[in-house]
Parts: sequence; C-alpha cells; structure tokens
Amino acid sequence: MREPLIAPSVLSADFADIDSALRLIEQSGADWIHLDVMDGHFVPPITFGAKMVQDIRKRTRLPLDAHLMVEAPERQVEDFAEAGADFITFHPEACVHAHRCIQMIRNRGCKPGISIVPSTPVSVIEELLPFVELILVMTVNPGYGGQDLLPFCLEKVKKLRRIRSELKADFLISVDGGIGPSTASQAAQARPDVLVMGSAFFSSPDPATLVEQMRAPYATTGLVC
Ligand code: DX5
Ligand code: ZN
Repeated sequence: MREPLIAPSVLSADFADIDSALRLIEQSGADWIHLDVMDGHFVPPITFGAKMVQDIRKRTRLPLDAHLMVEAPERQVEDFAEAGADFITFHPEACVHAHRCIQMIRNRGCKPGISIVPSTPVSVIEELLPFVELILVMTVNPGYGGQDLLPFCLEKVKKLRRIRSELKADFLISVDGGIGPSTASQAAQARPDVLVMGSAFFSSPDPATLVEQMRAPYATTGLVC
C-alpha cells in the first residue's frame, strides 16, 4: 500500500462543477475521493446525499470514501451502498446500534468505517475495532472545512496503532480536518494511513505537488508511538 493514502474532500470543491473537481483529484495522483455527507442535524450544514455519490461514481474509478455525518446512519446505508460508495463511515455518536450498522454496511458489500469526533475517546469504539476496515479520527469538530487541526486528536491515532498491532488487525486509520502542508509533519509523526484534505487541496495552485509534499514526511519520519 502506498503510504499515506491521500483522500481529497469535495466539500471544498464547487458542487456545481463537480467534473472539474474530480479531474483535479485524478490528475493530482491522489488515491481516494472523500465525500462529506452532512444532514443538518448531526452537524449544522447540509451537503449532499446518495444521489451525488451515484453521479460521482459514474465519473471516476477512484475509491469513494463516504463520511456520513448524519443522525441514524443505518437508514442511509442501503442508498449509499447502491450509489457505489466503497467505504461507508459513520459516527457511533449518532447511532445506538453501531455494531448492527457495521454489519449492514458489510452485508451490502461495502467496507465499514467508524469515525469519532474530538471529544470521543478511543475506548468508546474499542469493542468495534475487530469489525471495521477504517477508523476516521476527526482532527477538527465536524461540520466545516478550513478549521485548525486539534493536536490532541493525533494521540488517538497513536493509541489506535498500538491497539491494531495488539489485535493483529488491519483496519486503516484516517485523519480528517486541518490537514495540509502546515500540519503534514505533525500528522506524519502519528502515522495515520490516510490523510483527508479539503481546503488545503482545493486552494492549492498545484495539487499534484501538494500530494507529493504530504507524502514526503513519511519517507523521513520514524514512528513515534
Ligand atoms: C469536516 C469534514 C472534512 C473536511 C475537512 O467535517 O469531515 O472532511 O472536508 O476539511 P479541511 O481539510 O479543510 O479541514
Ligand atoms: Zn470528512
């Protein structure tokens, strides 16, 4: 696996010109497309739903990483799976029966992921770790792009790495929020497998160079766990 995987978020793109955003992501050499789904309840903004994912699926072969910031995500699983999402990640904070939701995602042929907001400790999801393919550690409070990374959240990445090796599990660890050139080396010290990038990617004059720049610290930074 290429390390780290880069997942630009279309949250910071022009939704009315999604073709250009997708071309930019593909031409940059990034690995995944991150799709921030917000329902106006779990987080205040509303972005888009499964129809948008379906339309994006027709336009790219890159893996689609759907991040559901929605209440009762179990009600959405079927539609997002049908739309062609590869990963479906939800917040256990928004779902009473998180294990059932994971099973639903897997049964629909998608890879289940769980995400935790900054105030949620890793211990809350510990029982779920053997069942998921991805842990998305929010490094900002969800809802908006362009916020500053909260450094204490990176400690959760290190903790998850330790638990992963104890369990001999192979879930990916992703970070989301405030990731960009100014935080690349800080993030690399915690060594997440996936870097989600919204505003830094879409405001960059040269996204391909940015992608390389984000990968560079992994070649030189050792593990600090
Ligand atoms: C925030 C979203 C993020 C967002 C990150 O709630 O989950 O994926 O796009 O944006 P930046 O990279 O600008 O912090
Ligand atoms: Zn996200």
